[in-house]
Amino acid sequence: MKSITVQPATSLKGELAVPGDKSISHRSIMLGAIANGITTVRGFLRGEDNMSTMHAFRAMGVNIEDDGETISIHGRGLHGLQEPGDVLDCGNSGTTIRLITGLLSGQSFFSVVTGDQYLRKRPMKRVVEPLTRMGARILGRNQGSLAPLAINGGGLAGIEYSTPVSSAQIKSSIMLAGLYAEGETTVHEPSLSRDHSERMFSQFGASLALSEDGVTVRGGFELNAQEISVPGDISSAAFFIVAALITPDSEILIRNVGVNPTRTGVIDILKAMGGDIELLDQRQLSGEPVADILVRTSRLKGIKISGSVVPRAIDEFPAVCVAAACAEGVTSVRDAKELRVKETDRITAMAGNLRTLGVTVIETEDGMDITGVERLSGGNVESFGDHRIAMSLSVAALVAAGDITIRDIDCVATSFPNFFQLLEKVAGK
Ligand code: S3P
Repeated sequence: MKSITVQPATSLKGELAVPGDKSISHRSIMLGAIANGITTVRGFLRGEDNMSTMHAFRAMGVNIEDDGETISIHGRGLHGLQEPGDVLDCGNSGTTIRLITGLLSGQSFFSVVTGDQYLRKRPMKRVVEPLTRMGARILGRNQGSLAPLAINGGGLAGIEYSTPVSSAQIKSSIMLAGLYAEGETTVHEPSLSRDHSERMFSQFGASLALSEDGVTVRGGFELNAQEISVPGDISSAAFFIVAALITPDSEILIRNVGVNPTRTGVIDILKAMGGDIELLDQRQLSGEPVADILVRTSRLKGIKISGSVVPRAIDEFPAVCVAAACAEGVTSVRDAKELRVKETDRITAMAGNLRTLGVTVIETEDGMDITGVERLSGGNVESFGDHRIAMSLSVAALVAAGDITIRDIDCVATSFPNFFQLLEKVAGK
């Protein structure tokens, strides 16, 4: 298990581009694989999570080429996937396993999906239950709530489903099954989660209707291959945004970042905390809003975070926790119980690590209260195998009184393989 020791920085300067959006990269492979024709993808994120998706589709007979710049997916049409001869290993990727389970529910063959030790602990009932209602036969450990999952698909009928949690993974899993179902499949959610599936389904020519609280897919329609350009991932940019806000004398420009409004909760939160963040040159790229993000050192203050902004910033809470630890006053996070079922329990993980760095944190069932400190202390902290915890703690180290050693950093490769190189670059090391 690799560790890294990160030293304090004097300032962060310069321009950078973060890797492609993870959510959009996953979906480009999935829809490309079942479309007619060759889908090309530029800016694809070659992180471990997305490679898990790529391998799974190759195992179902899809020819996917990578010339180092463009990924070309030779689509096999809606009903062209082949039965995989072995278990599909989704690695650490919740998006891969949950979305692919929806897609596999529509196939008239048998398949088994699993993942690493962390993924096998994460809740799957949330997709198994609605997919079973559509007619899929899915077995798994603990009454179908834990992977490995064995799927006998086919013969689906559309349903109208209200998901109890706002989750793009649940929504997208059901939407993918809906492509194969008889009639209409509708998903309602309490507040809108990321809508990349909706945007990409429309782009590929799926029959889709949007409503205020959900989406309806009509089954049986073939999809057409597309040319996709993937913007930079705002979830990756978030580490650098927080880093520049808290490090003295900093100014950085992050180019070509996706700023889809269902993903910009982190910008709203950090601006409300007093962050100097500007979105420049706002434009569209493959049906997704994109901008360059300019960030300058700011004096942050604690705020209350709850409600509909939470799903719009769901992956950014580890980074927001670091901002809160450096802010004046208390930041309270509520309505964020979902953080407990991410790659690790991110509430407990961040609370424990921040305490190690001298911060007072009170955990609640669905969030936490973080009281900012003048200066974080150095120390030894733990990623718990979660990429976003590892990267957030590396950002915290930029402003600590001493070095911070982060244990178990291999996980960073799941979403951001060149994170440490970029951090060194902007820190002038
Ligand atoms: C994702 C949805 C989110 C997010 C994950 C990616 C997606 O999960 O945390 O990193 O691509 O659909 P939930 O839908 O479970 O909130």
